[in-house]
Amino acid sequence: MKTKAILLSEHGEPATVARCCEVELSPPGPGEVRVRVLFAPINPADINVLEGKYPVRPELPGIPGVEGVGVVEESGEGFAAGTRVLLPHRFGTWREAGNVCAAELVRVPDDVPLAQAAMVRINPATALCMLREFVRLEPNEWVLQNAANSAVGRCVIQMCRHYGWRSANVVRRAELVDELLAEGADAVFVDKPGELPVRLALNAVGGDSAVRMAGRLAEGGTIVTYGAMARQPLKVPNGLLIFNDIVWRGFWVTRWYARASAEERAALFDELFDLLRKGIISTPVEATYPLTEIAQALTHAQQAKRAGKVLLRCSE
Ligand SMILES: NC(=O)c1ccc[n+]([C@@H]2O[C@H](COP(=O)([O-])OP(=O)(O)OC[C@H]3O[C@@H](n4cnc5c(N)ncnc54)[C@H](OP(=O)(O)O)[C@@H]3O)[C@@H](O)[C@H]2O)c1
Repeated sequence: MKTKAILLSEHGEPATVARCCEVELSPPGPGEVRVRVLFAPINPADINVLEGKYPVRPELPGIPGVEGVGVVEESGEGFAAGTRVLLPHRFGTWREAGNVCAAELVRVPDDVPLAQAAMVRINPATALCMLREFVRLEPNEWVLQNAANSAVGRCVIQMCRHYGWRSANVVRRAELVDELLAEGADAVFVDKPGELPVRLALNAVGGDSAVRMAGRLAEGGTIVTYGAMARQPLKVPNGLLIFNDIVWRGFWVTRWYARASAEERAALFDELFDLLRKGIISTPVEATYPLTEIAQALTHAQQAKRAGKVLLRCSE
């Protein structure tokens, strides 16, 4: 049987190297179930995979896509047909259908919106883990972050609001200030963070933006780098280490999943599904494209000033 998939045969300019093709789909093997993929986002990490710049990527030729949601097509391995599932990390989600190891599927409750479920594994999980794992935050304590308009950034704002912390947010566009305040941000700054007592800063930009945030941290404060949108290295002033003893840490959700126990992963998904079903967290979507329009979708996903994620609608 043939099915549509995005095939990557070489690395390079994303909109050029990713092509929609018909690929052969064999019957499910032992321990596998057939899943029809519904939605999959285009994340910055996917762009880096296509460029050949991400440390974990499919062997070529291969199918990209690090997360997504689908529906079980044929009952088997304890899954009834029609069950909604999150797809595993290395599956390659930019396809119409595929066979998945049943043990790696995560059931999605029926009251969680499908498009939101497609985006839960990477960005909301990253936001929650970073807020919990580095500094034990007190009630009402400030958290500082840059790229606050990103999917992770908006989750940080929404989660701070919900769990009783205060978010101080740096954006690069003045027009976002009112929008993020309305979303629940406690303070929004353009480029340069203001002076606040902060022990935790979350850095998705790198370069000067990260150093400016580190300069605002209280003595012994922690800055967690999880993204490098500016593609610029960090130049750490000696004084931040000598006089302020700032702690520089990194976070990679892939490593978190690899190290977490099955119980910890299940608890994370339960919590995130609950936040989604109650509308406490939600990731805006700017546009949805079918697989056949992958070039337009990738071009769109790389544009600045987006109001949300670009999603692929992988099947009808
Ligand atoms: N380490 C991990 O495990 C992990 C997990 C999830 C995400 N990430 C990383 O986190 C970052 C955000 O991901 P996302 O999916 O949330 O992003 P996203 O929703 O695609 O949004 C990208 C954001 O980056 C901002 N941006 C782009 N270029 C910039 C620059 N040169 N300077 C400052 N800001 C810039 C954009 O600002 P505008 O709105 O102004 O265009 C936008 O807010 C990415 O680097 C991603 O790879 C890492």
